[in-house]
Amino acid sequence: MIEGLKVGATDYLTKPINPVDVILRSRNAVFMKQLIDQEKEHLTEMKNLQRLNDELNHMIVHDMRNPLTVMLGHLELLKIKVKNLENDKIDKTLSILNQQANRLIEMISSLLDINKFEKGEMKLNREEVDLIELLNHILQVFNYNKDHVKILLETKITTFKAPIDKYIIERVIENLLTNAIKFSNKNSIITLHIDQQNEKPVIKVIDQGPGIPAEYQEKIFEKFGQVESRRKGNKYSTGLGLTFCKYAVNAHGGEIGVYNNPNAGSTFWFTL
Ligand SMILES: Nc1ncnc2c1ncn2[C@@H]1O[C@H](COP(=O)(O)OP(=O)(O)OP(=O)(O)O)[C@@H](O)[C@H]1O
Ligand SMILES: [Mg+2]
Repeated sequence: MIEGLKVGATDYLTKPINPVDVILRSRNAVFMKQLIDQEKEHLTEMKNLQRLNDELNHMIVHDMRNPLTVMLGHLELLKIKVKNLENDKIDKTLSILNQQANRLIEMISSLLDINKFEKGEMKLNREEVDLIELLNHILQVFNYNKDHVKILLETKITTFKAPIDKYIIERVIENLLTNAIKFSNKNSIITLHIDQQNEKPVIKVIDQGPGIPAEYQEKIFEKFGQVESRRKGNKYSTGLGLTFCKYAVNAHGGEIGVYNNPNAGSTFWFTL
């Protein structure tokens, strides 16, 4: 008996065998095995998640070095040549510095906010906001190169009030517009569109860019989508912008998605 347990048996029966005893002990043995299997699976899942998290953190920190490197290069240039540089060259350099610093802030904010959403610590400051007014406001303040693309607001409704966190939804729309611009050729048109479906607002950002292959249309919103994608060495999903958008829209009780337009480009849509 002891030898048996020593080499790994979990239980034993002695003759004469009682059928009820066999049934009960078998039930317990099966239950134990199931528990152990579940635990093993759980552990493997945790390890995978931990590994993905490590890879993601590494990638993000690595990505943050890019804007910093550009900024340092331009600061160096200013330091050495500021006396001899013409004003418009200084302006251009300062504008690059500003752009890169903003990119960095955007990346850090997305990262911190995604963590807050995951921990359930992101508080929405909801207030009644007229979405048409908000979209008009975004188009006025959104800083983009107007010689490169045109952004048009298209809507048949004149007012739509919804209880939202204005700041967060503004950032969602800016993220979608930034992506649309990034993937648009010169002289393209980007349409910001709003209408109503089942009493809910549907906001769309429509571009004329390359569109998104069907197999990536869900992955680009996933936090770890990019880890897998980069491992395979393709360019899909390198950032956290859309992950932030998904968390932000879901927190409002809405949904977000993308489809390719029949002629060209993609349409990112979300409801609130
Ligand atoms: N309008 C678009 N047209 C084509 N591809 C897009 C578009 N928007 C997003 N994508 C794809 O989805 C990926 C994920 O977008 P996301 O905004 O999450 O990250 P990013 O723009 O690469 O980086 P970040 O937003 O952090 O600066 C992009 O890298 C790109 O491959
Ligand atoms: Mg983006």
